[in-house]
Amino acid sequence: MSVLSGKKVLLGITAGIAAYKTAGLVRLFIKLGAEVQVIMTPASKDFITPLTLSTLSKNPVHSTFYDKEAENELWNNHVELGLWADIMVIAPATANTLSKMTNGVCDNLLLATYLSSKCPVYFAPAMDLDMYIHPSTKNNLDQLQHFGNVMIPATSGELASGLVGEGRMAEPEDIVSFIEKDLLNKQPLKGKKLLLTAGPTYEAIDPVRFIGNHSSGKMGFAIAKTAANLGAEVILIAGPSAETIQHSFVKRIDVKSAEEMYTQAHLYFKDTDIAILSAAVADYRPKNVAAQKIKKKDATIEIVLEKTKDILASLGEIKEHQLLVGFALETNNEAENAKGKLKKKNLDLIVLNSLQDKGAGFATDTNKITIIDKDLSMQTFGLKSKDAVAEDIMKAIVAKL
Ligand code: CTP
Repeated sequence: MSVLSGKKVLLGITAGIAAYKTAGLVRLFIKLGAEVQVIMTPASKDFITPLTLSTLSKNPVHSTFYDKEAENELWNNHVELGLWADIMVIAPATANTLSKMTNGVCDNLLLATYLSSKCPVYFAPAMDLDMYIHPSTKNNLDQLQHFGNVMIPATSGELASGLVGEGRMAEPEDIVSFIEKDLLNKQPLKGKKLLLTAGPTYEAIDPVRFIGNHSSGKMGFAIAKTAANLGAEVILIAGPSAETIQHSFVKRIDVKSAEEMYTQAHLYFKDTDIAILSAAVADYRPKNVAAQKIKKKDATIEIVLEKTKDILASLGEIKEHQLLVGFALETNNEAENAKGKLKKKNLDLIVLNSLQDKGAGFATDTNKITIIDKDLSMQTFGLKSKDAVAEDIMKAIVAKL
C-alpha cells in the first residue's frame, strides 16, 4: 500500500505548458488511494480545462475566491482548503508563482491557500532554461526551501521553446515517487517495531462454550492502522474480533485465549521498540476444560476458575529498552486505580477509559481517554472517534520517544 493512500492531496496548478501533464498526476494520486482537490490559477486554465481535472479528481476545481456566475455565490475558503490538506503539491510551479510564494504575495486563491496551509508543501518548478538559471529564480528556489517547502527538481530535456536544457517539470510518475519516498523518510516511527494486543480473549469451558467479554477490538485496530501510517512495523496479536485490517505494515496474528496471546506476545517482545497492550484479556479461565460438551443435568453448575497470566505485567518484568503502554478500564476511583497499574506493571504510559463516561469503552465507535505518564502527569481528552483517539495515543507515544 502506498504511503499516499488515504492522504488528502491539494494540487495547485499554475500557468505553464506542463500543466497539461497534471491530468496524469491527478490519476496517479487517485490510483494510489489519495483524495485530491485541485486549485488552479486563472491563467492555467488556458493549458488544461477544469472539467478534465474535476472529472479525474472527482471533486470541484477551485480557481477564484468566489464564482460570480454561480447562482449561489459560494466563498472558496482558502484557510479551510489549507487545513484540509495533508500535503500541498504545486505543479507546475512557474517562475511567476515561485516569486510570489517567496515574497508572500497572495493575489489569487492558490497563493492565499499556500500562505495559510500548515501541511508540507512540495513544488515542481517548470520554465524555460534561462529563466531556471536566472539568479532571481535561483534565489527564490533557495528561499522557498529555506522556508521548509520541498522542491521536486526540474529535469533536463527538450523544452516547449524548442531549446534543450534544464527546466522541464519532473514527470508525474517521478513527482509521485519523489513524494512517496520523502513522506516515508519523514515518518516518525519509520523502522520502529510495534507490538499490539487487541480484542477480547475467549477461555474455553468445553468444546462449544467459552468465557469472553464485550471487547470489539475497534480501539486496538484503530491504533494498528495509525501506527502503521506513521511508519511502524506492527505485529497485531488479535483475540476473536470481527474487525479487519489491510496494511502492508501490519502483520496480524489471530489468537483465542489469554495463554495463546501471552505466548505470541513473548515471542515478539524482545525485538520490539514499542508495546501497546489494548486487549481486554480474561483475568480468569476455567481450571479444567471439559473434553466433551457438558450435558444439562443439574439445576446449578459450578465452574472453578483460575487466574490467567497477566501479559502486560509479565512484559513489564522483562522490559529493557521497550516503551510499554497499557490500558485501564475502570468504573470507579479511576485515576488512582490506573496509576496503581502503571506502577505495579512497570509501564511508561497508561491509557485510562472510564465506564462512567458515556460513549467510552467497549463496542462503541467513540472513546474518551486520559493518558497518564510514569511521571504521573496526565492528559485528558474529549469524546472522540476511536480513530482520533488512536492518533492522540500515538502522538503521546511519539513525543515520549
Ligand atoms: N492485561 C494483560 N493480561 C491480563 C490482564 C490484563 O495483558 N491477563 C492488560 C490489558 O491488556 C490492559 C491492562 O492489562 O492493558 C489492564 O487490564 P485491566 O483488566 O484493566 O487490569 P487488571 O490488571 O486485570 O486489573 P483489574 O481487572 O483488577 O482492574
